[in-house]
Amino acid sequence: MRTIIFRDKQAVGEAAAILFAAQVLKKANSVLGFATGSTPLETYAALSGLSQRGIVDFSEVRTYNLDEYVGLSPAHEQSYAYFMRRNLFSKINISPENCHLPDGMARDLDAECASYERGIDMDGGIDLQLLGIGHNGHIGFNEPGDAFPDATHCMTLTPETVDANKRFFTSADEVPRRALSMGVGTIMRARAIVLLIHGADKADICQKALNGPITPRVPASILRYHPNVTVLLDQAAAAKL
Ligand code: PGA
Repeated sequence: MRTIIFRDKQAVGEAAAILFAAQVLKKANSVLGFATGSTPLETYAALSGLSQRGIVDFSEVRTYNLDEYVGLSPAHEQSYAYFMRRNLFSKINISPENCHLPDGMARDLDAECASYERGIDMDGGIDLQLLGIGHNGHIGFNEPGDAFPDATHCMTLTPETVDANKRFFTSADEVPRRALSMGVGTIMRARAIVLLIHGADKADICQKALNGPITPRVPASILRYHPNVTVLLDQAAAAKL
């Protein structure tokens, strides 16, 4: 695991964008794994700029997002599909049919999870996966538990995650209680991973994930077993390392 500390989240985001741009420059039809939340916003802004300036061409790129809420359509402003369109896909030259998120409106959620996992395999697997980390150590919606979930699955959000995400809804009652998420296995099968952590509020979990025991109680800790992970942090998140 390579760990690089930057001055602030802007620098973290620009560095991550450079890594993703380099991936696409090396392999035009890369399969990229993307994440939502506030963590990757600077990365997406920087990647949009690189696309608009003609430096990176996304026309052959395929993408798979980590997760999606159950019950929100892609038109819902809090769906992750909407987030990705607003913050990245509408600003780069990518074809909508190449952008994949789990379908939280699917009638058969188990079949949707299996088909999502199959889609990643059939596209050749994820070349580079972007990750943030939750305050409880989750990656995607893989919450702390007794085991690391393997494949894409349907899960129930923990009360902490509902609480953390209620800021995006008018009330906590509106936050969906379930989500479809890549499993920890899906994430670990990516050939390379870029984990972003910024902000003083992430300093505790950053310390636990990078230096504490490797345990499903801190799902991100397993990334230390992956052969190609780059962690980009700001100074505030790195304060307790
Ligand atoms: P955040 O969420 O980027 O909004 O902090 C990260 C996560 O929960 O994975």
